[in-house]
Amino acid sequence: MGRDYDQHRHDHDKGIRRKLRWLVRFPKFWQSPINRAVVDLAAPVPGERALDVGAGMGPATVLAARRGASVVAVDPSRFMRVILGLRRQGQRNPSRITVEAGAAEDLPLAGGSIEVAFTVNAIHHWTDLEAAVSELARVLAPRGRALLVDEDFTHPDHPQHETHHDHEQEMTVVDVEAIASMFRGVGLDATGERTFLAAVPVKVIRATRAGA
Ligand SMILES: C[S@@+](CC[C@H](N)C(=O)[O-])C[C@H]1O[C@@H](n2cnc3c(N)ncnc32)[C@H](O)[C@@H]1O
Repeated sequence: MGRDYDQHRHDHDKGIRRKLRWLVRFPKFWQSPINRAVVDLAAPVPGERALDVGAGMGPATVLAARRGASVVAVDPSRFMRVILGLRRQGQRNPSRITVEAGAAEDLPLAGGSIEVAFTVNAIHHWTDLEAAVSELARVLAPRGRALLVDEDFTHPDHPQHETHHDHEQEMTVVDVEAIASMFRGVGLDATGERTFLAAVPVKVIRATRAGA
């Protein structure tokens, strides 16, 4: 029996209705300016070991791999992993991408094995922020960095502010200061801010592990 990563998903994230919603939003899940902006900011370099948490269909994963990083794409949804697995095969360097079952709260990675971790629009799906932060801290190598970004759909300037209804469902509240403080609590340097990326209001947490 494999590990039960489904326990780390909100109930409404499972089932056929959610899969249909993801398919309807397919273009944005395939590639988006926000994912491009996050990978530009995270700036993985050739040979670096990267982690995409809640990778979905892999819009950030493929960009990081095209930059030459070796990317582990982790997602608890089998549906997403199958799509990303197929997408991986169409990449110029598929060996740079590994798709793994896992969750932010239970990363299938060895301690200290990742130089750059990023996550896009997934934090509000996590069910246990403390566990996720402690897992990210565990897998980061010395001088490793993490960049956590969630679009702020509650912001009146967000283009989908009126039409996005995820906030009506059970979702984890993304409080950038609280999450940055959790990272500091496990020994990392961290900051949180509300800003704009790719002209979209976002919540951003950056964390870095001190060097060895
Ligand atoms: C809105 S999608 C974003 C996917 C991708 N990062 C993007 O920007 O298109 C959220 C993703 O988080 C995943 N997810 C749900 N619960 C998770 C958890 N506990 N840990 C990690 N990822 C999770 C979902 O399966 C889904 O693929």
